[in-house]
Amino acid sequence: MYKTTEQIRQTFLNFFKSQNHIIYPSSSLIIDNDPTLLFTNAGMNQFKNIFLGLKTIKDKNIASIQHCLRTGGKHNDLENVGYTPRHHTFFEMLGNFSFGSYLKKKSIIYAWKLLTSKKWFNIDPNKLLVTIYEDDIESYQIWKNIIKLSNNQIIFIKNKNNIKYTSENFWKMEKYGPCGPCTEIFYDYGKNIPGSIPGSKKDIGNRFLEIWNIVFIQYHKLPKKKFIKLKSPSVDTGMGLERIASVLQNVQSNYDIDIFYKIIQGIKKKFNLSNTKNNKSLQVISDHIRSSSYIIANNVFPSNEHRGYVLRKIIRRAIRHGRSIGLKKCFFYKIVPILIKSMKNANHLLIRYKNKIQKILKIEELQFSETLNKGLKILKEEIKNLKNNVLDSNIVFYLYDTLGFPIDLTKDFCKEKNIQIDLNKLNKKIKNQKIINVKKKYKNTNKISMFVNNKTNFIGYNFYKTKTIIKKIYINDKSVNKIDKQSTGQIILESTPFYGQSGGQIGDSGIIKSENGIFEVYNTTKNGNIIIHHGKIYSGTINKNTLVKAIIDIKKRKLIEKNHTATHLLHAGLKKVLGKNILQKGSLVNEKKIRFDYTYFKNLNFKKIKKIEKTVNKYIQKNIKVKNFITTFKNAKQKKYIFLENKIYQNNVRIISINSISNELCSGTHVYKTGEIILFKIINENSISFGTRRIEAVTYKKAFKEIYKKEKKLNIIKKLIQPKNSNLIKKIQNILKIQQKLIKNNKNIEEKLLILSMKTISKKYIKINNHYIFFHILYNEQQSYIFKIIDYLQKKFQSSIIILINISKKIYLKIKISKKLSKIIQANTLILKILKKISGKGGGNIYFSEGIINSSLSIKKIISKCKKLVLSKIQNKIKKL
Ligand code: ALA
Repeated sequence: MYKTTEQIRQTFLNFFKSQNHIIYPSSSLIIDNDPTLLFTNAGMNQFKNIFLGLKTIKDKNIASIQHCLRTGGKHNDLENVGYTPRHHTFFEMLGNFSFGSYLKKKSIIYAWKLLTSKKWFNIDPNKLLVTIYEDDIESYQIWKNIIKLSNNQIIFIKNKNNIKYTSENFWKMEKYGPCGPCTEIFYDYGKNIPGSIPGSKKDIGNRFLEIWNIVFIQYHKLPKKKFIKLKSPSVDTGMGLERIASVLQNVQSNYDIDIFYKIIQGIKKKFNLSNTKNNKSLQVISDHIRSSSYIIANNVFPSNEHRGYVLRKIIRRAIRHGRSIGLKKCFFYKIVPILIKSMKNANHLLIRYKNKIQKILKIEELQFSETLNKGLKILKEEIKNLKNNVLDSNIVFYLYDTLGFPIDLTKDFCKEKNIQIDLNKLNKKIKNQKIINVKKKYKNTNKISMFVNNKTNFIGYNFYKTKTIIKKIYINDKSVNKIDKQSTGQIILESTPFYGQSGGQIGDSGIIKSENGIFEVYNTTKNGNIIIHHGKIYSGTINKNTLVKAIIDIKKRKLIEKNHTATHLLHAGLKKVLGKNILQKGSLVNEKKIRFDYTYFKNLNFKKIKKIEKTVNKYIQKNIKVKNFITTFKNAKQKKYIFLENKIYQNNVRIISINSISNELCSGTHVYKTGEIILFKIINENSISFGTRRIEAVTYKKAFKEIYKKEKKLNIIKKLIQPKNSNLIKKIQNILKIQQKLIKNNKNIEEKLLILSMKTISKKYIKINNHYIFFHILYNEQQSYIFKIIDYLQKKFQSSIIILINISKKIYLKIKISKKLSKIIQANTLILKILKKISGKGGGNIYFSEGIINSSLSIKKIISKCKKLVLSKIQNKIKKL
């Protein structure tokens, strides 16, 4: 019985409604509070904590149609897309769930009834077979005795190497989390299609298609292969909409069902690809437009990390396939309207975010195009010259490292052409490169990096000054024994209270003092574990290996500390107000201000900015103790403490902890209690690049200053405006209203005046036969009015020469000659002749010319000279016209 995907969605929901299930909407593709999950990968994700018994739910029987993405983690189908008829990155999962209500029997009966009953999907029961977890006898008995399947329709799937819970029929959500044995229902396309029976050692062919998975969630998988039995077992089922559609529409590939047919045909039509045979690329594009559009609709945008990176990978893969079927121009975003149409009732998210989706896809393609074109050119050339079918990993590495051409694209390209890459060699290269990059990062000056294995003892978390020993002195990168005579150089101490610039916090300044001299430190940096004091001798001499006092500028440091803690509070406030997905992109903390860059796609309105500011000030007012402790990076990650994705951390990391508000990996210096910050004020908020925004803020006295500054301005405005009853806004609104009225009145008067002056001008002319010549002087007239006058005269006097002189700061001359009279004299020749007589500059075309007169003659004289000249040039000719 043929059913469209839209009908399948409805039939599925109607069926479970009729069986007393409550219909739940699909959750977002991003389940925020689950760090184990990159994107939602199954219908049960949104109920994870209920399955685990951590939460309860009123509805015990639920059904849903869930948007899923399988692009990472335990379930990753990205690389299969385009190469099999069954895999997708994005798909819809039809599922029913029972939380302690029904178990194996009922869930199997439901599935069977929906699939085979005439009233519902009406699939021939003989075309179905099932798999069962190796010792799930209960399911076997249900299939055998209640559903009445024959023995050859039931296949047990064993654990791998006799290890418990490793069978294909033991489903796990992710590395850790809910899991349990499952029974899967397969559709048999018939003997004519090659394919191995489920459970065969080699999975080949497409004869048998898994359509429905019924999981009996019974365990919670924890690290170290620990499985905890759940108190209340539940049921989680999932049926891929696209797969069941392929059965009910009697096609052998998901890419031939109605949704994909529409997308692929739509693409072919839009881009004139009717002869394109490369189905693979069309499949990839039609799949990837779905996943990338839905990901963007869920507020993720392309970046180099985390979810944004997956999105970027998908978009780039689609674009690469586009190029391979001849789509050279920015094409990908143009498919969005086709996709929206194809998704029928499941398209509301796409409709809502259509503009955003298109904008992001377009920008990503534009940005990537140049790299892609260069990379593909090299790749094609190299492959053309291959002697065997193995591509040198040096080339793959070059493309990646020098050009930025993604490795997965090279792999995909080679896979398409059956070309191998030596992955071992390639991975080694990438690893080496990472080490080199880290080394490069630490390489500053040759001499100082030699010292890299040593360590300066930093005591600045607890002390602002200390007695210590000079270990090294450098002048112009050379190690020396002393520094004097106001020379600049660098000093390395045994211990120091000076914080070396890192993690966005600037370095300390201060002094290093010995018995014989003072060295002024104006900046402190870090090189590996060495802290370097940069500065200049203020007086006397400082010698190597002598005892000194190192004292930081405490006032400056305290201001930095306020700003640094405020930065952590701002980060927490941003996550609270804008959502957990915002990521820190960079920061600067100095004694003057905070600069914080973060990812966010939308603009922030005044209300949002104030909300962020208020949230941070609330944290400050709570006067919370700022604690710090050391833990392992692994633990910090597990606890979801905030860290920078692209930074390399040591095994042990320092956490700055402000209650549950903020827990962030940080080596910086902070206040003791948040109340010390006193006040936080945002002074700037704007976008600095696509998807990245910047906040600048100040704290403490500077924040008050900011407010005073604004108040002062307001006061000046008040004084100027002097509102009655001190209602300033009303008064300004009134002034603006009056101003607008005046502008309008003024315009009316000006127009009336203009008409009047046009009429006056039009009465003063020299007439020769039916031809009119105007000479007129204007004073301080606007350009636009001069043109209006010219137009007016032209319309009224079809055959005319109009010469206008406008006297303002300079003397401007404008000449307009009608078409008819241009036959005897041209505006550009005439102006040159005039300006030759009366000095000046100008030019134009045969109908219109303009210039500036530069003459000491009186206006009267100028006019009379003009008149004389013009008349002498035309008088005779005009009569003949
Ligand atoms: N959660 C199960 C799956 O995704 C139903 O296959």
